[in-house]
Amino acid sequence: MLTFEDDFATPAPQPRVMEPTPETLRASAVGNIAGGILSPYLSNEPVHDLDVEQQAMPNGFRRVRMEDKRVINANADVNQLVPFKYKWAWDKYLAGCANHWMPQEVNMQRDIELWKNPNGLTDDERLVVKRNLGFFVTADSLAANNIVLGTYRHISAPECRQYLLRQAFEEAIHTHAYQYIVESLGLDEAEIFNAYHEVKSIRDKDEFLIPFIDVLTNPLFKTGTTQADQDLLKSLIVFSCIMEGLFFYVGFVQILAMGRQNKMTGASEQYQYILRDESMHCSFGIDLVNTIKLENPHLWTPEFREEIRALIKKGVDLEYAYAEDTMPRGVLGLNATMFKEYLRFIANRRCQQIGVDPLFEKASNPFPWMAEMIDLKKEKNFFETRVIEYQTGGALSWD
Ligand SMILES: [Fe+2]
Ligand SMILES: [Fe+2]
Repeated sequence: MLTFEDDFATPAPQPRVMEPTPETLRASAVGNIAGGILSPYLSNEPVHDLDVEQQAMPNGFRRVRMEDKRVINANADVNQLVPFKYKWAWDKYLAGCANHWMPQEVNMQRDIELWKNPNGLTDDERLVVKRNLGFFVTADSLAANNIVLGTYRHISAPECRQYLLRQAFEEAIHTHAYQYIVESLGLDEAEIFNAYHEVKSIRDKDEFLIPFIDVLTNPLFKTGTTQADQDLLKSLIVFSCIMEGLFFYVGFVQILAMGRQNKMTGASEQYQYILRDESMHCSFGIDLVNTIKLENPHLWTPEFREEIRALIKKGVDLEYAYAEDTMPRGVLGLNATMFKEYLRFIANRRCQQIGVDPLFEKASNPFPWMAEMIDLKKEKNFFETRVIEYQTGGALSWD
């Protein structure tokens, strides 16, 4: 949740728009062009309203003031974590660290025996597992690349950058976990890792996401204009609300439903830890989006909000196609119709969290047990796998 300690009503400073030069492009690799370490040297603004201690020195140096910090287009050195302004981001960083886990800590022996037993799982259940991994083995690499090569350099609040660094490592752990499951079960690695090229419903989801990654990784892209800032905001919403907040959830329900039926319990435990991480990624992304909105209200136009709703609607359609593709018939007590309702429920929730009108009427949650899955303290004796005590952060409430 947002815990604002500062007055965001302060009018946003007008961004300084500069044509990219070799020097500014180089600066963007260090920090946001408008708010990076070099910004005092790039600024033509007179320094005023500073007390004696904070007056600019002849070389352009000045101490970071909290009011100079902004999530995008900051006028403060991105290398200085304190003074804290975005405490919610720092708290999420601490909670993420407290939740640290590694895939090898989970015992996969029962899954291996079940998978090798010809009567252990039905063909439909095996298809669910393979299609599921087919999406996830590359999805978290996409997420990591988006953070490291795209989002990170455009975010000018060091507290938020600190969380993004933690998140990037967690995405690496998730990719590791999916690879670990594929290896443990002895699956055809080429089939699973190429599914995002070869299975249409998976490829369609990734092709929807790629343009939103490409815009941020383009070396010529920089924030500071309304158009560019809206492009960044749109990419952040697509990733937090549609990818991490929607595209992941059919897959999580499928594997966790198996665990509830005492099948694939090792994989289920891995997914449970991943769900906890992803829940926080989604929550962080939503807080990031809402803070950018508060600091830059001119970006949040009615046209932009409608564009966002249309994107979320498209995400629901793509994820529903994926649900049908992974479960052509009912399996595990689940069927595609239940997922249609679930996706509508989650989509409405995401709309509400970022402040756009809900897309669907009367959508309810057919899987209330998913809420329990995020809190491992409640569930630590659920699976008959090795119990590992992890700390859980304060931010692990179901959203
Ligand atoms: Fe992930
Ligand atoms: Fe994530």
